[in-house]
Parts: sequence; C-alpha cells; structure tokens
Amino acid sequence: MYAIEVEKLTKKFHGFVAVDSISFSIERGEIFGLLGPNGAGKTTTMSMLSTMLKPTSGRASVNDFDILKSEDDVRRSIGIVFQDQSLDEELTAHENMDFHGRLYRVPKDLRQKKITELLELVELEDKKDNLVKTFSGGMRRRLEIARGLLHEPEVLFLDEPTLGLDPQTRNRLWQYIEELNKEKGITLILTTHYMEEADRLCDRVAIIDKGKIIAMETPENLKKSIGGDVITISSPENDDLHAMIRLQPWVNHADLHNSSVTINLKNAEQHIAEIVTLSSANKITINNISIHKPTLEDVFLHYTGRTIREEEAKTKDRMRMMRRMRTR
Ligand SMILES: Nc1ncnc2c1ncn2[C@@H]1O[C@H](COP(=O)(O)OP(=O)(O)OP(=O)(O)O)[C@@H](O)[C@H]1O
Ligand SMILES: [Mg+2]
Repeated sequence: MYAIEVEKLTKKFHGFVAVDSISFSIERGEIFGLLGPNGAGKTTTMSMLSTMLKPTSGRASVNDFDILKSEDDVRRSIGIVFQDQSLDEELTAHENMDFHGRLYRVPKDLRQKKITELLELVELEDKKDNLVKTFSGGMRRRLEIARGLLHEPEVLFLDEPTLGLDPQTRNRLWQYIEELNKEKGITLILTTHYMEEADRLCDRVAIIDKGKIIAMETPENLKKSIGGDVITISSPENDDLHAMIRLQPWVNHADLHNSSVTINLKNAEQHIAEIVTLSSANKITINNISIHKPTLEDVFLHYTGRTIREEEAKTKDRMRMMRRMRTR
C-alpha cells in the first residue's frame, strides 16, 4: 500500500500545461522530494494532491483516498505547510495552533496536550503566548510545521519549507523534519529548489522541469546516473573547448553553458593532464579547471542543459523588471 499514488496527473491553466502527465508512487514513511526551478509545477502538483486544486486530467490517491472522489478524507489525513505564510499575525502561537485544532475538530483535552507537545518539538513552547507578528522567519516556519501536525496526519506536505531562511535555521528545520519522519513515521512530500535540501533529506527525488518529471531516483543514484565525476572548465574559447572535449572517447557527456564547459566522466584525475595538453595544442586558453563529485545541480544540468541557478536568476530578473514597471 502506497501513501501516495499519482497517475498521469495533469494541470492546464488556459491551455498552458503547468503539470504534464506526471506519475509516481510514494511509500509509507518515505521522504519524497520534488526538486525543480521556479515555475516547474511543484506547488501546482502539491495543490492537486492536497485537493486545493482540481486536476485537468489524470488521477491520484492519498492514503488510499481518491483526491477527486474522497476530498474530505484526503484533507483529514494530511497536513500542509504552504509556500506562502498562512499564520494569523495578530494571534499568538498558541492561538494559531488552537484555531487549527478546532478547525479539525481535535477534542479539547487532546488538543491542549498536542499543542504543548508540538510547540516543545519545534522549541517554541516558551514563546507560545507571543504574537506571531513578533516572530522571525524561522520561528514562523517552525510554528507552521507544528500546526500542520496537530491533527496527527499520516502524510505531511511541505512546500518550500526553508525558503529564504538562513543556513543555520535551515539546518535546524532539517533536523525537525528528519525527527518527524523517524520518530512518528510520517510520510513527507516536500518541494524545494535547494539542491542540498533534497540531497540531505529525501529518500527519493523527482526532478521536475516545465511540468515534467525528468528523473526520479535516490539522490545517490541520480548522482551516479550522470556517470562518474564532474570537471568544470572556464575558457574564453569555450565553444571550441566544448566541440573538442565532447569528441573524446572518455567523455560521457559535455555541456556548454554560460562561460564554462561541464564534463561528466569516470576517473577525472586521470584525464586532467590530457585536457590541458589537448587545449594548448588547439590554442585554447584555460582560465580555470576544477574536479568535483557530482551534486544534484550537476544532475539537473545533465538532464536539462541548464542549471537551476540560471533559471532562478532569470526569474529574479523578470520579477525585478515587473516591479520596475509597476513603480513607473
Ligand atoms: N492559478 C494559476 N493560473 C495560471 N497559471 C498558473 C497558476 N498557478 C500556477 N500557474 C503557472 O504554472 C506554472 C507552475 O507554477 P507552480 O507554482 O506550480 O511552480 P513552482 O514549481 O511551485 O515554482 P516556485 O519554485 O516559484 O514556487 C507557472 O508557470 C505558473 O505561472
Ligand atoms: Mg511553488
């Protein structure tokens, strides 16, 4: 029995395909990640699975409840932490929790017990009577996670749980998430565009781009799938460098993007000297050369020819432009 089963799930907005026939299954107790750049379709997928949004086609079940036929059962059996903050600023931490508990009809005694236990879990017990508007970003996130757990869901949806948090707070949140999964056996499905987050937390990761799942595996196997090590070279003649490198028999795959060439190959150390010799024979200058073990960023680049960071930068530029247009 799976915690979540998804079959050819699709969402179109006025003809634009935001989620394009995706299929996957999540085991009970698994931490499953949807990793992808802005606009990939992560939130749309989460919204359909949590019955907030109707799919255009396809089917899915959560805790064996069909998302179309048994909406209420699905909702009762899941917890959600939205991408955008959804706490009431003018209420205290305790009041926010209590309100949610009433909404889910958690009986009073149990409610009080759970609120105390969960606020302790996220280390907010001593702040329970403070107004949320006085909380930092990290405290708000922790409170939202605690709130999402109040009605003891079997599956917890976390949409960008650590977006915009500093590395230390992010690390602490990762620990909570791991504890929840290990100690309470809760199945977690989370979205992120942080590579380290997906790598550290997830048992399996689906890389999603433009509404499609382009790879799905354990982080370890995803990294293995691109074939060995990664060499990155920057050169003013990167077109020539790319053309030359990709012809070498020991190269599994070579990408050219921005001002560097990224090569996937086995036993990188053994080929560095050859790369340097070939380059100088072809009058190609090398500004910088580095070897590393593959990261999920390399995996994304391998499958899409782009990096998530480039995508983010593009979106940020677009947003900046839009803001400028608005203020004009
Ligand atoms: N209600 C809507 N109406 C029209 N288009 C939408 C709507 N919601 C989402 N989209 C579009 O669908 C695509 C996927 O959006 P979605 O929010 O699922 O992406 P995401 O992967 O969660 O991105 P992010 O990392 O920015 O949160 C985007 O191109 C978005 O503009
Ligand atoms: Mg999103």
